[in-house]
Amino acid sequence: MAEVAPGSEEMVLEFLAEAADDFVSGEAISGKLGLSRAAVWKHVNALRSQGYRIEAVPARGYRLMAIPDRLGTLEIGPLLNTHDLGQTLHCSEELPSTNDRARELAEAGAVHGEVVVAECQTAGRGRRGRAWSSPAGKNLYLSVILRPALPPQRAPELTLVASVAACDACRKAGVDAGIKWPNDLLVEGRKVAGILTELSAEADAVHWVVLGIGVNLNAAPEDFPDEIRGVATSLSVARGQPVPRALFAAALLSELEQWLDLHAAEGFGPIRDAWRERSVTLGREVRVDGDGGEIAGVAEDIDDSGALLVRGRGGLVRIVAGDVRLVGRVDPAGA
Ligand code: BTN
Repeated sequence: MAEVAPGSEEMVLEFLAEAADDFVSGEAISGKLGLSRAAVWKHVNALRSQGYRIEAVPARGYRLMAIPDRLGTLEIGPLLNTHDLGQTLHCSEELPSTNDRARELAEAGAVHGEVVVAECQTAGRGRRGRAWSSPAGKNLYLSVILRPALPPQRAPELTLVASVAACDACRKAGVDAGIKWPNDLLVEGRKVAGILTELSAEADAVHWVVLGIGVNLNAAPEDFPDEIRGVATSLSVARGQPVPRALFAAALLSELEQWLDLHAAEGFGPIRDAWRERSVTLGREVRVDGDGGEIAGVAEDIDDSGALLVRGRGGLVRIVAGDVRLVGRVDPAGA
């Protein structure tokens, strides 16, 4: 799939997608888009040949019945209800990493909200130098370029914004996900999504932030490499039916934009509250493998910069980076 610029075919599709379950007359489409009826028919047939199911009924018009399970501009674009995120979509069949491509685009001047998506990553990257399993045609690998008006020290807040948004997108897809600090999404204790945030900044200004989000949507257990099979899952495994990937991508971008807008308007406070509500870490006994070695204790809270506060034997420790293992549940009554 090349990076596709919007054309007449996409506009016809957008028109049909906006009408949702209703018919749209050929006349309305041709009038609105300034195309002949024959051209509309040609575009409808071109879309059908790409896997779109479009019903045509004399005197009623066209109705979009189903979209193919692809993550292209044609599939995601018409489903978007965002003002910035995804208004420019860069969709590829295969990339080493969507974060790498997004970084290149950001360096070349991409605007706030441009999004990179790939069907498959050959060198998908996770946090702390790990690989991210990225089989073709199963999951979502997406990177969003942001140009936030934030001082660099507040940029980590955006990772927590993204984890809240991704959590809500999973919940809207019918799966009860929760957030393990800082930004892993878990379902029944297994990882379903992760976020890799990268940025370029100088002392007092952020040039760009790339939020890289990987969500295991339709991967089956055998699609995961042996070493993570026991600790990873997908939304389709959790809910027992496949997830329409383009729909999920559009819903995720919409959630992300709403939470980013709230963050821009009201700061980190409401994000911190939302993160706490969705957390599966707070109140748990944890072991944190951080830069300064392992810390054991109870995860008490996150502070106003998103750092994890763990009460260990030696008192309260503030953790800014690390891997958390959930060990046990702490009875709040202390019984
Ligand atoms: C983690 O370790 O939990 C973070 C995983 C982030 C994976 C996503 S997939 C899209 C984007 N491109 C990458 O190479 N990584 C992120």
